[in-house]
Amino acid sequence: MSNPANVASKSETMLGRYIVEQGFCTQEELGDCLSLQAELERQESHRSLTDILVANGYVTQTQLSRVKAAVEEQKTFQQIPGYQIMSKLGAGAMATVFKARQLSLDRIVAIKVLPKRMSENKEFVDRFYMEGKAAAKLNHPNIVAAYDVGEAGGYHYFVMEYVAGKTVYDHLVDSGKPYPEKQALDIILQVCRALVHAHLNGLIHRDVKPKNIMMTPEGIAKLADMGLAREADDKVAAAAEAGKAYGTPYYISPEQIRGQLNIDFRADIYSLGATMYHMVTGRVPFEAPSPAAVMHKHLKEELLPPDHVNTNLSAGISEIIEVAMAKDPAKRYSSTSDMLSDLESVAHGDPPKLARRAYDLTTLAKIEKAAADSNPTDQVDLVQAEEEQTIDLGSRTMIQKFKDPLVLMLLGCLIFAIVIIVLLEMKGH
Ligand SMILES: Nc1ncnc2c1ncn2[C@@H]1O[C@H](COP(=O)(O)OP(=O)(O)OP(=O)(O)O)[C@@H](O)[C@H]1O
Ligand SMILES: [Mg+2]
Repeated sequence: MSNPANVASKSETMLGRYIVEQGFCTQEELGDCLSLQAELERQESHRSLTDILVANGYVTQTQLSRVKAAVEEQKTFQQIPGYQIMSKLGAGAMATVFKARQLSLDRIVAIKVLPKRMSENKEFVDRFYMEGKAAAKLNHPNIVAAYDVGEAGGYHYFVMEYVAGKTVYDHLVDSGKPYPEKQALDIILQVCRALVHAHLNGLIHRDVKPKNIMMTPEGIAKLADMGLAREADDKVAAAAEAGKAYGTPYYISPEQIRGQLNIDFRADIYSLGATMYHMVTGRVPFEAPSPAAVMHKHLKEELLPPDHVNTNLSAGISEIIEVAMAKDPAKRYSSTSDMLSDLESVAHGDPPKLARRAYDLTTLAKIEKAAADSNPTDQVDLVQAEEEQTIDLGSRTMIQKFKDPLVLMLLGCLIFAIVIIVLLEMKGH
């Protein structure tokens, strides 16, 4: 048998490797195609490897044109000095991410490369470098570490820690069901710690979402993509972005949708709440046919409490999400550390004190609003409205009160006293 490598061109070899990597065919099947190509060549009948692959049904013409484009891309990226591109890890709206070997340190890294058309867009390139600089300021076990930024062959790239594992989004899609509460809590706690660190350093992520949370095989959560991050006090960047809604609409905060200038850490709190909502219910908080309609719901529609979607959820976790996702930033947690402390309480089986207080205040505000809306002289109506509100909005709080050990104990004592009195009465007769 002839050596197939003698017949296939260098680019065909690369394409063949890519086709196997992508699972279109096995190494053996590729070997057979290469042997057939060599055999045909001996008979002086030249056929390209791609022709043979298509004829054998391993790839369609459409798939082939995509594969060719990807291989071309990889060939160009091979030019990044000091790195050897190994495979493609994925692609998002803005860039493509490759697995590569950093030759100097002999370590595996992930390289995010801007496509050429974006590499020529100054605004995009500036944002890209900002990502590198912003991420480089952070040093935290739950944040994907930034290593390097640069430009080669007209492509701008960002080198970062390689995370062997899936994103939370991949897990949600693959499993098709919500995370168990305990596991979701463990992941969100880690991401919240990452955000506390980022916020203390004056950085806002602006794009917290399940696709940007990577999980290592050891269960360590890594917050990826400080892609939309910038210094909180960078007014120039804020002005440049005014009116534009960046980020993914399923998790984006109302103030980002409005293109407000004063975006702060509370935007990340909202997105973390929305991410948590998706993780524990298996549904995004607001679903609609178009991004614009989703954004409209973030702005206007009342959130369906997560424990109404998944009735197995604890009240505590539901309250944290509701406070984090308050439409008005002032009604959210007043610091990321506060949210962390509530998450830690719930993880220890205690109630989320700060969320509960905020929850009760919201209930009170709604009662007051109902009172203001009703006729102030009509006391009966007012009391009734109050009672209705308490039952409707505060039902969870009421149930929790009954779950409180102290209340339970008092209730027990009361029942015991009544039984004793009844018994004594009966004895007296
Ligand atoms: N540091 C990393 N290590 C390993 N894989 C990574 C790393 N960063 C990103 N990836 C993979 O590359 C994919 C694309 O990432 P990218 O940040 O470009 O887009 P995204 O976050 O998935 O989507 P979007 O464009 O909506 O933000 C990710 O989904 C993930 O699978
Ligand atoms: Mg990402």
